[in-house]
Amino acid sequence: MAAYGLITGWGKYLPRRVLTNEELEKMVDTSDEWIASRTGIRERRIVADDETVSTMAVEAGKRALEVAHLAPSSLDLIIVGTNSPDRLVPGSAFLVQHAIGATKAAAFDIAAGCSSFIHALATAYQFISSGAYENILVVGSDAVSRYINWEDRGTCILFGDGAGAVVVQAKGVASDMLQFLLGSDGGGADLLYVPGVCDRTTGTPPNGHHVIMEGREVFKFAVTTMAEASRQVVKDAGLQISDIDLFIPHQANDRIIQAAARSLGIPSEKVFVNLEHYGNLSAASPAVALCEAVEQGRLKAGDLVILVAFGAGLSWAAMVLRWQPLASKEKV
Ligand code: UT7
Repeated sequence: MAAYGLITGWGKYLPRRVLTNEELEKMVDTSDEWIASRTGIRERRIVADDETVSTMAVEAGKRALEVAHLAPSSLDLIIVGTNSPDRLVPGSAFLVQHAIGATKAAAFDIAAGCSSFIHALATAYQFISSGAYENILVVGSDAVSRYINWEDRGTCILFGDGAGAVVVQAKGVASDMLQFLLGSDGGGADLLYVPGVCDRTTGTPPNGHHVIMEGREVFKFAVTTMAEASRQVVKDAGLQISDIDLFIPHQANDRIIQAAARSLGIPSEKVFVNLEHYGNLSAASPAVALCEAVEQGRLKAGDLVILVAFGAGLSWAAMVLRWQPLASKEKV
């Protein structure tokens, strides 16, 4: 796949408020032991009253721009992957554009469940390899806590809020993105969704817009899909799974992550996991995980990385990157 574009900056934002499993024990019929053993999650972050998807995206985006040494005014495009936008209309990307002063940037959101960030990233690479744009900010940001039914123990224990961002730039050299794969199966749309204002199945929900999920079905789909998508994208890139240095899967449930890694034959030291502290960050999940992998020194120049996610849609997305961090030091 001929393509240009390098990730030159990365950043994250997690709200301050920590919601622990012990606190959830007081809210619903659950236990720290159940949540930790069934999901691997011990705590998650929750937005403050004055925080939204766009305010978190702005913070993560500013940090990514700093790392890239890029002025907001140089951005051509901002793409926000999210499932919990501040407003139904317009997309949160417009609020981000204004807040960071990206005066000449176009902006739009992508809503593809927890795969949104990888969809947005793949889209950014297309704009760069076509020659249309040179500097793009890609954000995954979600405040799913706003859509949680805090009486539903099947969902309220899983999700947390946060944002991750990367800057993708045209650098005139081969891309760090070797291959991507996006997929959808709208036949599974009822397995995980938030009803809309005029939802075809539920109408306007009387008790608010809450996450509705068939957990077991999503679990089965997740394990199979993350493994199959990873296998396929690696094959399409002309590589083998054994070539991969770091596997960064969507952080939904540690049992899903470990089952997918086992099926792929990826040893645990090559699997990145941070969900213990954040839970499922939805669209922000792969973005924050990539950012933390860099911050923790888990990625070095030339390393091959799989980013893979699944989610509402049903959706899935996978990407192989050859990490080239030195590019961030180049002048624009
Ligand atoms: O980004 C995509 C987002 N979604 C996902 O990734 C969800 C994927 N699914 C999952 O992660 C898991 O299915 C869950 C964590 C949601 C549930 O775990 P599970 O091992 O599939 O549990 P289950 O639904 O099969 O339920 C087992 C038992 C049930 O009780 P009984 O019927 O055996 O008596 C549930 O009522 O566990 C019960 N249960 C709980 N117990 C304590 C369900 N939720 C809880 C809870 N605390 N929070």
